[in-house]
Amino acid sequence: MKILAIHGSPRTIHSTTRRLACFVLEGAADAGAETEIIDLADYRIIPCTACEACAINGICVNDDDVTAIMNRMKEADAFVFGSPVYIDNITGQMKIFFDRLADAIHYQHYSGKYGCSVATTAESGSTEVVAYLNHVLNYLGVVSVGGIGIATGGQLAKVEEYEPAARALGKKLVDAVREGYIDPVQDAILSDNRGYFKAIVEESKDLRADDYARWVRMGWIK
Ligand SMILES: Cc1cc2nc3c(=O)[nH]c(=O)nc-3n(C[C@H](O)[C@H](O)[C@H](O)COP(=O)(O)O)c2cc1C
Repeated sequence: MKILAIHGSPRTIHSTTRRLACFVLEGAADAGAETEIIDLADYRIIPCTACEACAINGICVNDDDVTAIMNRMKEADAFVFGSPVYIDNITGQMKIFFDRLADAIHYQHYSGKYGCSVATTAESGSTEVVAYLNHVLNYLGVVSVGGIGIATGGQLAKVEEYEPAARALGKKLVDAVREGYIDPVQDAILSDNRGYFKAIVEESKDLRADDYARWVRMGWIK
């Protein structure tokens, strides 16, 4: 089982959010998973220009590192999303990456996977950012098992206090993958999202025949 953390702080290895995400990964590794972390700031990610070329065949016109990241996402069973709070939101690095996932969201390419989210902040916004990251997981068709947001007040030691909770979250993620458990609330959210994206898949039936056939096979289009 592979667990992939995708982390959006530009402070990369010096980041407190990364530290928190790594505690989650350590909990997952102790429970038997293979783990990996991607620091988005180390990658070349061109912002989406809304050219809509991907809508035709799922392929972005930009030749950058996103394809490689998406391939690693495809191989993973579960994701850990992590971002610090920047002006009450995720970082620009994380948002630019998320925008590049729009096609994968529309066609639910990561459906069947699990995830969780972490965020750190100086004072405020971590609950909202964790909720947003989990919302993006759900948009991707991914079941979220929860998240942790921490206001550090600038004290790195605060993150260490959350090590047991973060490790427990990592174990919970592994257990969810193993057991295939979907809580009814998450199930309803994912079903609503598919109801929303279904119109796009139906409209593009001829252009995206493989995607359309997958939706029919999955019972998402009757
Ligand atoms: C550009 C920028 C914007 C920030 N915005 C907020 C904010 O809106 N609220 C807040 O409490 N902290 C804010 N912070 C503080 C960071 O959220 C906090 O230091 C976080 O733990 C940094 O995480 P990192 O070490 O993973 O980069 C901001 C920091 C930066 C650099």
